[in-house]
Amino acid sequence: MTETPPRVAIVTGAARGIGAAIAARLSSDGLAVAVLDLDESACAPVVAQIVAAGGRALAVGVDVSDEAAVTAAVARVAAELGPPTVLVNNAGITRDNLLFKMSADDWDAVIGVHLRGSFLMSRAAQTFMTQARWGRIVNLSSSSALGNRGQANYAAAKAGLQGFTKSLAKELGKFGVTVNAIAPGFVVTEMTRRTAERLGVSFEDFQAAAAAEIAVARVGQPEDIAAAASFFVRDEASYISGQILYVACGPLN
Ligand SMILES: NC(=O)c1ccc[n+]([C@@H]2O[C@H](COP(=O)([O-])OP(=O)(O)OC[C@H]3O[C@@H](n4cnc5c(N)ncnc54)[C@H](O)[C@@H]3O)[C@@H](O)[C@H]2O)c1
Repeated sequence: MTETPPRVAIVTGAARGIGAAIAARLSSDGLAVAVLDLDESACAPVVAQIVAAGGRALAVGVDVSDEAAVTAAVARVAAELGPPTVLVNNAGITRDNLLFKMSADDWDAVIGVHLRGSFLMSRAAQTFMTQARWGRIVNLSSSSALGNRGQANYAAAKAGLQGFTKSLAKELGKFGVTVNAIAPGFVVTEMTRRTAERLGVSFEDFQAAAAAEIAVARVGQPEDIAAAASFFVRDEASYISGQILYVACGPLN
């Protein structure tokens, strides 16, 4: 009897932070994982960690907002790991500023990575999912989608991803493809560390202030988000699509 090959997942922005945790989690769930990020060499430690734990992974350098690079990256994953039927659109950047100080470049960069990037990656990967009559797309939104001072560009992108998620869920459902979004609250990563730096507060004080506003009185870790991604990807989640799961521990307003 021939063994069924493992499903192949692509995780973008997976060289560190939430993406790296999702890549490791999907590998421990039994998937082969393509670790995509801007710089291929930056993905090496995540790939090495997965391989050391007995998994299969591939590092691919790509700017998710570059159409030709996305086409080439997804083709490479299909050729070297197998047809990708799971996609986690996690790559992200912030360029925070109050509206009157926000440059058009800051606006375009944030919209470009989150919205254009998720669009290009999803369009390239859905071919393999519809062919397989099975697929999973998980988009990373944010609690900032509800509005956040100094983040008009980021909030617009993250709210846009929610509409994108619901539209793809409607289009792709008949092919056995579910599309959901995770909207994290505060998670300890380089992204939040840099926000603390920009605001001129220590990362410890920044985390303590955030924790004081969170129902369970702690900040999130990348593994908290990876657990939600793992759930959406499972076979048993096949009747859940078009949903936005706030992983922020507590009601948001
Ligand atoms: N950290 C949080 O509190 C938090 C909260 C809500 C949502 N998020 C979202 O979760 C996702 C991961 O965030 P994180 O905190 O791990 O951030 P991070 O900055 O630690 O990691 C983001 C990764 O994305 C990569 N990346 C950026 N632009 C890219 C591009 N054009 N192409 C390919 N890769 C690119 C970066 O190189 C980096 O490795 C992001 O979409 C972010 O907006 C984070």
